[in-house]
Amino acid sequence: MSAPPADGYYARHIFFCLNERKNGEDSCARHDAQAGFDHCKSRVKAEGLAGPGRVRVNKAGCLDRCAGGPVAVVYPEGVWYSFVDKEDIDEIVESHLRNGRVVERLRLPPDVGR
Ligand code: FES
Repeated sequence: MSAPPADGYYARHIFFCLNERKNGEDSCARHDAQAGFDHCKSRVKAEGLAGPGRVRVNKAGCLDRCAGGPVAVVYPEGVWYSFVDKEDIDEIVESHLRNGRVVERLRLPPDVGR
């Protein structure tokens, strides 16, 4: 675990879009975003990474990058991910949230929007 930023309560903060559109439009909830969030939350806790000075996992509404869904973003780096399964989440937890190494293969391309 790398050192937290001097002005940060958490060393890293990951937000998962869990938005579900009721009007039939595509949204992260239709791509099993909840399962990714739940798995990340439990992994971070099980690995002892959760808490002040460490990692926080939060739900978010639409982050307006729905075309890449399900999406998550990690701060303070501001790195966006699109994930598919639990193995992807495991890699984000171990590589980025624990060790600060961005998982390049899961990065959301910069031009993906709504
Ligand atoms: S529905 Fe997830 S980013 Fe918009």
